[in-house]
Amino acid sequence: MRSLKNILVSGGSGFIGCNFIRTLLEKTPGFTGRIVNLDALTYAGNPASLADVEAAYGKTAHPGVNAADSTGIRYFFEKGDICDRSLVESLFRTYDIDTVVHFAAESHVDRSILGPEAFIKTNVMGTFTLLDTARQCWADGSGAMRQDALFHHISTDEVYGSLGETGRFTETTPCDPRSPYSASKASSDHLAMAYYHTYGLPVTLSNCSNNYGPCQFPEKLIPLMILNMLEGKPLPVYGDGKNIRDWVYVEDHNRAVWTVMQKGECGGKYNIGGENEWENIRLLYTLIDVVSGKAGLDPAKVRETVHFVRDRPGHDRRYAIDCSKIKRELGWERQVTFEEGLGKTVDWYLSNAAWIDGIRSGEYLDWVKKNYGDRA
Ligand code: NAD
Ligand code: TYD
Repeated sequence: MRSLKNILVSGGSGFIGCNFIRTLLEKTPGFTGRIVNLDALTYAGNPASLADVEAAYGKTAHPGVNAADSTGIRYFFEKGDICDRSLVESLFRTYDIDTVVHFAAESHVDRSILGPEAFIKTNVMGTFTLLDTARQCWADGSGAMRQDALFHHISTDEVYGSLGETGRFTETTPCDPRSPYSASKASSDHLAMAYYHTYGLPVTLSNCSNNYGPCQFPEKLIPLMILNMLEGKPLPVYGDGKNIRDWVYVEDHNRAVWTVMQKGECGGKYNIGGENEWENIRLLYTLIDVVSGKAGLDPAKVRETVHFVRDRPGHDRRYAIDCSKIKRELGWERQVTFEEGLGKTVDWYLSNAAWIDGIRSGEYLDWVKKNYGDRA
């Protein structure tokens, strides 16, 4: 079991990263170290998702305490770009970083089709910058790596491409990415593994299926549909609605990530999934029932707003993850059923109107500008 002390979380203000930080600080008694969240606060990063964590564990909870001799402070926020090498280097040194968990990415397939450049910059060059800084900062004079260090790279099942009606992705399935997003993530996976093999950087890697849960930006299927239902807007289904995704609750993903970080083999790659395949249209009808039940809507009326639209170019047909390796070797198990997870997710969106309003009005962008200056 590794002892991880000063963790640099990249992209900790995004959907999965903010849930990771919360789980680690609030629900993981075995972790007593510090977290430094490095996030550029792009449109997808929202400090409001961690406002209470900042208040409980951050500088605001310890006024007057200096960041460098940060007795008591366990959460630090640093606004910045992972491509900014001098910034990343200074964070490694200031906080004596021994662990990186790298979530930061441009993450939405549709945006990657409209504008791939940002994906190459952040997902490829940004990952390179983090890896290369870690190599530099963790090597001693003779080139040997710091013993207690770990770089965990977060990736997606989309790097494996698209499945037909049968089969599941295993860790040995060759990469066959089809979108600029998945191609940029596959590049970053290759770079991470290359740093392990070439320089001995202690790298672990996980490839996860589609996540859902609190704080997901409402451009992805589940939160977009929930909010559209609540606002009586059309529910746009791409193509014939029969594409299949394998859904996992964000907390189950993050527990798996933490398990790999503690016990995974260096150079090891671990698939994470929900063993929970749904055709988009079937998922949508189920979600309509859940939202209608909780928000007092008439499900028949909501169903009438389902609207088939032009398909996404290069739309991968089916994803399904074989996660037997992490179960067998590291003892991880999914804990949240889909029914339970969807219920919790809908409840979260129903009870967090301020978070949603901030995003809908763009107010969170103004708030970021006022508090942190222009976005990176
Ligand atoms: P997200 O888009 O919600 O959050 C990304 C975060 O990264 C944001 O806070 C953003 O501000 C930050 N960021 C973007 N560019 C940056 C840069 N150049 N420098 C610093 N910060 C930057 O994404 P997410 O859904 O939380 O995904 C997190 C990671 O998990 C990504 O690497 C993604 O590829 C991977 N992943 C996501 C899913 C999913 O279903 N969402 C599934 C598997 C893997
Ligand atoms: P998405 O949440 O964008 O995740 P990914 O593309 O990374 O799997 O989409 C999930 C599935 O839902 C995918 O097959 C595309 C489809 N989809 C729609 O049909 N309508 C929508 O409005 C969106 C955002 C997605």
